Amino acid sequence: MASPIDPTRRRLLRGGMAGAGALLGAPLLALAPAAAAPLAGLAPRGIHASYTDRLASQRTVTWFTDDLLPGRHALAYQTGVAAWQRVGAQTQRLPGRRGWVHHAAIPAPPGAPVRYQAGLAAPAGDAPLLARHAAAPGELAGWPRGTRLRFTHFGDHGITAHSVANTAAVRARAPDVHFIAGDLSYANGTQPVWDTWFDQLAPLAASVPVMTVPGNHEHEDIFWGSRAYRARLRQPGAGSYYAFDLGRVHFLALTAGALFAADRDLLLEELRFAAEDLADAAARRARGELDFIVVLQHFTLWTDQLGREPNDPTLVLLEEPLLVRHRVDLVMAGHDHFYQRSQPMAFGRPDTRRGYVQIINGCGGQSLRQISRPVQPWSAFVLDPPRYCFTEYELDGLTLVGRTLASDGAEPVEVDRFAIAARPARQRRAAARPVAQLSQLWRAAEALRAVRAAG
Ligand SMILES: [Fe+2]
Ligand SMILES: [Fe+2]
Repeated sequence: MASPIDPTRRRLLRGGMAGAGALLGAPLLALAPAAAAPLAGLAPRGIHASYTDRLASQRTVTWFTDDLLPGRHALAYQTGVAAWQRVGAQTQRLPGRRGWVHHAAIPAPPGAPVRYQAGLAAPAGDAPLLARHAAAPGELAGWPRGTRLRFTHFGDHGITAHSVANTAAVRARAPDVHFIAGDLSYANGTQPVWDTWFDQLAPLAASVPVMTVPGNHEHEDIFWGSRAYRARLRQPGAGSYYAFDLGRVHFLALTAGALFAADRDLLLEELRFAAEDLADAAARRARGELDFIVVLQHFTLWTDQLGREPNDPTLVLLEEPLLVRHRVDLVMAGHDHFYQRSQPMAFGRPDTRRGYVQIINGCGGQSLRQISRPVQPWSAFVLDPPRYCFTEYELDGLTLVGRTLASDGAEPVEVDRFAIAARPARQRRAAARPVAQLSQLWRAAEALRAVRAAG
């Protein structure tokens, strides 16, 4: 078994993380004179921005090209009114096809607009503007309550016309960050599908950081050992799970077993990571440093999708005790291609004291599925018939206000609205418990491994 998360890595994954990342190791260069328009094979494709290790002060921009420029691919950027500068990219081969993926980290100081341009062409005034947060995360660490943060979520995206429309609808909302809860491209090992998906996502992702978790269709990229997912996206830390703070909201992004077949130790490492991370976040929430704890993952714990109801027994066994122990506020999930919102629930029953709200939004664009009737007692709302949609969350002081908007018409239409209140002090204190002893979970997980290995 691989070693548990080492302390150095844990420090990297904490919000703030000042001085931790090293991606921006390449020297800044004065911008060269305007170059000729890039040859077609050198044109940057699938440009997307993400948070990596220095949330407070930088963004990482990733893109791919079909051909390789002799020398070094680069990204030009401009912060505020300062002159354009250039940073060299780190480049690696795309798995599974001829092509290269490049990524470069650029400064994103609090409150300052950042423009950038990837590739060879001289930077232009219409270069993408990285999302300017209401305040950058560095400022957010000490945010007073009442400062707003707005983020969006869907899963199960694909490359259909519905996928394109849903992306455009999210883009029109200009969130601070967009989350995709797994099953991204449905490439299943066919690399041109990944290319198309990134091209399609770029109008949104070039300016709004997009953070993802893998789904089972990233696992089904197994022919390449999930290498396409890992190579084409940049996230905090070195693994496929990570955590960070945005203001007074803590986010924990998990594979929840999606890459189990590619890396059998990953689930065990991840459980330990989640146990430590949630204990830490709950303690900070009890001290008044945070107001909400949010988990992002592909798989649902409980569901009323026909054929998958009532739950995922592995996650109920291994993960749900942690969510309830530390009183996670919200789980953003996908996998099931419909929309369902739970009441605050624990172990399949409504529980306002200990429970979390699970939002299943597997309506990103790939397809829609049927709902099992009657729905379970914990269900608060189900969109029936299912529609393509995204969910938007806005932090308004001590309330997280949610809206789900269907994107299958000329204009987005609100189909659900809800509010999640921050927990009162008594509940916060009750959730600040020591790191869970996972020995029982280990035994269950080892038994699961044995069963799967035998199968
Ligand atoms: Fe899916
Ligand atoms: Fe899935």
